[in-house]
Amino acid sequence: MKKLLSIIASGIMLASLSGFDTPDTADTDAVSAATGTVRYTDDDLRNLQDFLLARPAKEDLTGKPYDLNGDEVWDVFDLCLMRKEVEKSADTASDSDTIVVYFSRTGNTEKITEYLIDITGADSYVIEAAVPYTDEDIAYNNSGCRANKEQNDKTVRPEIAGPIASLDSYDTVFLGYPIWWGEEPRIIDTFLESCDLSEKTVIPFCTSGSSGISTSERNIGTLVPIGKQLTGKRFAASASKTDVETWYDSLPLDK
Ligand SMILES: Cc1cc2nc3c(=O)[nH]c(=O)nc-3n(C[C@H](O)[C@H](O)[C@H](O)COP(=O)(O)O)c2cc1C
Repeated sequence: MKKLLSIIASGIMLASLSGFDTPDTADTDAVSAATGTVRYTDDDLRNLQDFLLARPAKEDLTGKPYDLNGDEVWDVFDLCLMRKEVEKSADTASDSDTIVVYFSRTGNTEKITEYLIDITGADSYVIEAAVPYTDEDIAYNNSGCRANKEQNDKTVRPEIAGPIASLDSYDTVFLGYPIWWGEEPRIIDTFLESCDLSEKTVIPFCTSGSSGISTSERNIGTLVPIGKQLTGKRFAASASKTDVETWYDSLPLDK
C-alpha cells in the first residue's frame, strides 16, 4: 500500500504541483483538518487519489476536508499529509479498547459500522456465516427461505466462518445487525454464546426497514451474561454519519 501510494504520489507530483481546483471545499472543514479533528479513512485516500488522477468520483466530494495544508488547492501535498493521518489512525485503532462487531447481509449495517469506526477509531470484526447467506436465503417473502426458518427457531445457531480470536483487550463492544423478523439474526446469538461479555459494556445497534431494536435488545440481555448493556439504537438504511455521531456523543461512555 505504502509503495503503491508513493508511486502514485510521484506519478502525479508534477501534474499536481500547481494544484487542481477543489470542489467547493468548506473553510470549516479545512480548519478542522488542520486541527486534527478529522479522521481520514482509506476511502478518503482513494477519493483524493482519484481526484488528482482525474478519475470519475465514487461519491460527491463537495465540502470534503481534503485541503489539509490550507492552501485552497487539493494536491499531492494534501495526499501525503492524509496518508500520514490514516497511518496515525491505524496505530491509534490498534490500541483501542472498543470494538465494533457486526453482521450485515446487504450492506446497510456495514455502512453504519463504517461511520462508527470513523468516529470512534474502534477496531472492528465482521461476523460472516460459514455458509454465506445467498439472495434466496434472505428472500423473506418465501416462508421457507433459510433466514425465515432460522428466525422461526430460536435454537438455531448458524456457524460463524472465522470466529473472533479474543475480546480480552476490549472493554466496550458495539454490536450491529439487521433486524430480521423483529429480532437479531440467529447468527448474532451464535456470536453472543461464543464469547464472554460478562465484564464488557455492550451497545447494540441495528438497521431495519421500520422495526425497532427493543425485542432484540431484550433477547441479547437475556441470552448471555453482560457486564453492562447500554440502550441500543435503530438506524434507517439512509442514516448519515452525523446521525451516528449524534448518537455516539449521547452515549454515557468515557471518551
Ligand atoms: C429475512 C429478513 C427479515 C427482515 N425482517 C424485517 C423486520 O422484521 N422489520 C424490518 O423493519 N425490516 C426487516 N428486514 C429488513 C432489514 O432489516 C433491513 O433491510 C436491514 O437494513 C438490512 O441490513 P443489512 O444490509 O445490514 O443486512 C428484514 C430483512 C430480511 C432479509
